[in-house]
Amino acid sequence: MSPALLQKQPVDDRPPLRIHTPPAQQYAPFGNVEARNDLQARLEIPTMLLALGLPLGGRVLEVGCGRGVALPVLNAGLLPNSLIGLDIDPALIQEAERRIQAHGVHATLIEGDVRDIPLASSSVDLVVDFGTCYHVGGGVDGSRLALGEIARVLRTDGLFVHETPVAQHLAHPVRSFGRTLPWTSVPVLARDRSAVLWAVRRKRAWWVR
Ligand SMILES: C[S@@+](CC[C@H](N)C(=O)[O-])C[C@H]1O[C@@H](n2cnc3c(N)ncnc32)[C@H](O)[C@@H]1O
Repeated sequence: MSPALLQKQPVDDRPPLRIHTPPAQQYAPFGNVEARNDLQARLEIPTMLLALGLPLGGRVLEVGCGRGVALPVLNAGLLPNSLIGLDIDPALIQEAERRIQAHGVHATLIEGDVRDIPLASSSVDLVVDFGTCYHVGGGVDGSRLALGEIARVLRTDGLFVHETPVAQHLAHPVRSFGRTLPWTSVPVLARDRSAVLWAVRRKRAWWVR
């Protein structure tokens, strides 16, 4: 087993949550479309980085990293001190590992659940999500858990970059119909900036509510 995959063990000391997701509400995977991956890597993510003007460096986490398409682009564009990819699907984590190795990128890959992120509180500077929180198992409750976990692992003033409903509806018009994220459940994540397809929330200090 490679060093990257050894990092699958939880690195915080909370007991894992027991998340029961009824079968009808389980995550349904999207098919792999190489042309779509290519478009994302060559055009979408570089455009997003340019449009949002994100800070460089720091500890960057991509939730739902899947096959790792975004990781080399995030690495080149954000120059993180450390880069982490998290996905619930072990086969995709393996693929992501092959991809980052092929690109000569160092990232820690974690097989884990965004609804129970195995990282310490306030330990991440920037979280990126290309749609996972919209489609996570457990419906709105699942999205609520995921956003709560993202808020927990972000440090104060840390940023959460996510797709807007516009991006979701363009990419998956049927599946995304009527889906929004339950922001009212995470008032600690305040609107920061937006660029049509992507938006950023900033974690407020605990005394600013
Ligand atoms: C919309 S895809 C995005 C994949 C990739 N980031 C991309 O842009 O191609 C959602 C990803 O989230 C992962 N996922 C689904 N539920 C998850 C969960 N509860 N925790 C972590 N990852 C999850 C899936 O395995 C899939 O790779």
